[in-house]
Amino acid sequence: MANANISFDDKQNVFHLSNRQISYLIQIEEGGLLSHLYFGKKITKYHGSRHYPRLDRGFSPNLAGEPHQTDRSYSKDTLLQEYGGYNTGDFRQAAIKIQGANGAQASDFRFQSFKIVNGKPHLDRLPQAYVLSEDEAKTLIINLVDSTLNAQVSLYYTIYNDRPVVARSTKITNLSQQSINIEKIASMQLDLPASDLEIISLPGAHVRERQMERQIVRQGVTEFSSHRGTSSHHMNPFVVLVTPNTTENEGEAVGVQLVYSGNHQFTIERDYVEQTRVLSGINEDGFDWQLNADDDFQTPEALLVYSDEGLNGMSQAYHHLLRERVARGKYQYAERPIVINNWEATYFDFNAEKIQEILDEASPLGIEMFVLDDGWFGKRDDDDSSLGDWFEYATKLQSGGGLVGLSDKVHEKGMKFGLWFEPEMISKNSDLYRQHPDYILGMPNRDLTPSRDQYVLDFSRPEVVDNIFQQVVNILDNVKIDYIKWDMNRHLTEVYSAALSPERQGEVGHRYMLGVYDLADRLTKRYPDILFEGCSGGGGRFDAGMLYFFPQSWTSDNTDPVERLKIQYGTTLSYPVSSMTAHVSASPNHQTGRQTSLAMRGDVATAGVFGYELNLAKLSLEEKSEIKDQVTFYKQHRSLIQYGNFYRIKSPFKNNETAWEFISEDKTEVLLFNYRVLSTAQPVFTVTKMSHLKSDGIYVDQRTDEHYSGDELMSIGLYNTPIKQADFTSAVRYFKWQAE
Ligand code: GLA
Repeated sequence: MANANISFDDKQNVFHLSNRQISYLIQIEEGGLLSHLYFGKKITKYHGSRHYPRLDRGFSPNLAGEPHQTDRSYSKDTLLQEYGGYNTGDFRQAAIKIQGANGAQASDFRFQSFKIVNGKPHLDRLPQAYVLSEDEAKTLIINLVDSTLNAQVSLYYTIYNDRPVVARSTKITNLSQQSINIEKIASMQLDLPASDLEIISLPGAHVRERQMERQIVRQGVTEFSSHRGTSSHHMNPFVVLVTPNTTENEGEAVGVQLVYSGNHQFTIERDYVEQTRVLSGINEDGFDWQLNADDDFQTPEALLVYSDEGLNGMSQAYHHLLRERVARGKYQYAERPIVINNWEATYFDFNAEKIQEILDEASPLGIEMFVLDDGWFGKRDDDDSSLGDWFEYATKLQSGGGLVGLSDKVHEKGMKFGLWFEPEMISKNSDLYRQHPDYILGMPNRDLTPSRDQYVLDFSRPEVVDNIFQQVVNILDNVKIDYIKWDMNRHLTEVYSAALSPERQGEVGHRYMLGVYDLADRLTKRYPDILFEGCSGGGGRFDAGMLYFFPQSWTSDNTDPVERLKIQYGTTLSYPVSSMTAHVSASPNHQTGRQTSLAMRGDVATAGVFGYELNLAKLSLEEKSEIKDQVTFYKQHRSLIQYGNFYRIKSPFKNNETAWEFISEDKTEVLLFNYRVLSTAQPVFTVTKMSHLKSDGIYVDQRTDEHYSGDELMSIGLYNTPIKQADFTSAVRYFKWQAE
């Protein structure tokens, strides 16, 4: 039933967006300033309790112009606002910075009009949350105008039925006859009244993505951002504001997720009266957009979630939203195939025989798809050549009939066939570079910074995107391919386009992203049957923007199960399990050198979108039989793992033990995963308390036939007795519910 509602109270001048879970309140203040009142648990009716107090504070300037200039109690300096301007009396971080035609850097946008529409307007060329029908959401559009600049800012707020989500974005339109420069334009601003807050972010690195960090919000400015041209391993475009007592299942949390894969900026500022401002959008660093007369600019979207049921409550809202209203296409809800990828088995050193060996081993084990990774194109035998040459390396797989022959063999075995691409890159040693040296992203008269011996293509230029599109099409139209791994293995430097004028160079970073989205859009539309997996040296572009095009992403190049516990735990803070791929690899692990049991490697990888990345031909018979069991287990539980509700129980960031659970929507099926990293001579019998179960009826452990009530499992919990005395152990329990 439609329950998203947006009302405007013209006596109080208050907008109220609400559904059954949340309310968002905005007030038009004197002089047309837009103030933020509230975002949180649903309020039935607002009467004015959050009206911002007026006070004459020293050094808080007042509003310019008649009639407010004489009111010394009214200032932008501390007012909680929806979208703060620059250089006009609000000294905190601005949501928007504009340079006018005369060079003046100032902005002051005031209320002008509003509109409420059914559904959710489509954001041109950008990834976004969508609606399936007009009656599942309502959108408030508030227009603000800076009359000096003669520019209009439109703030978009979408509220869905039955989701604790507000989707926000901003559009600026230049109504003047001259061009203006956008130096910064946030997607959203959220100003919160004085209170103790903490912030959780997902920093990391290559092979160490999305580590959860929690810190106190202190006076001053804290930034979580990427300057790397991509959302990056180093700082995911996502933060959560929590109260100090918020835990996984209790307390308040407000999440901010940017649906964008380029440079991002999350600014958290605690001001001198302990209020907090949160800004999120494209990173202002390196960004400068020339907006001509009558042009507009649309920001990426930010997805805000409110939870009063702790972090798990917030994650649930994101998992459902990202899975149901950001991811798209044939595989959105489809069970994803179990993969064998040859990368860690062979790296570049493969031929038809070696691949055949892997295939012969894979299919009897029940593995469903073979993915040929890097090295099949151009003359690629190492990572220093051929990017940009998306034609088959003629001699490499020749004895097996080339790519077509390989694809046939894979399909004859009843498996699917996948292929690796890195569309955004160019090697200097490539035909593409020899033909089009200007296609490279780089500055004239400056040496270009290499990374992995490769360079970035100038995807801000449509003809470069077209060239790559055509090359990829030539492969896909000639070889039967069921899956593509779309990689991106370096970050952007010397960001400059030979095709843009000097005044427009600040646009290149964002135009690059629009080019990437355009290519992803064209390929996914032309090949709707292909499953796409995003990748960037592992999880370097694991964000909601890419998820709009590719329903899954390679989580990390780090496949060590101990380190994966943290990486996967952190990833689930915002992203659904159906998007998170996880493979069993060889031991000792290639990234850490650690030796772990095949059982634990399996128990970590089966908690994601599952696969293998090792040389199956080198395994013992026992190992193969264990793999067969893992594959059988995964097929039995795949839909629960990929599409059930996932809850974190014990954090690897705090404990020697990790636990999480998967619960079916009707709560009748439950998988509980427990992991212990290090063993102790005197085993400690810790307890795992489950959550989110039914409290009536009985949960039956399917292996032992032991019976437990749901509240018993939740309030008392189960002992974790070690299965054996060793490091790196794990246990999985499967429960089915029955009425008493
Ligand atoms: C990246 C990916 C790996 C592999 C290599 C190939 O690092 O994350 O999985 O595809 O590139 O070069």
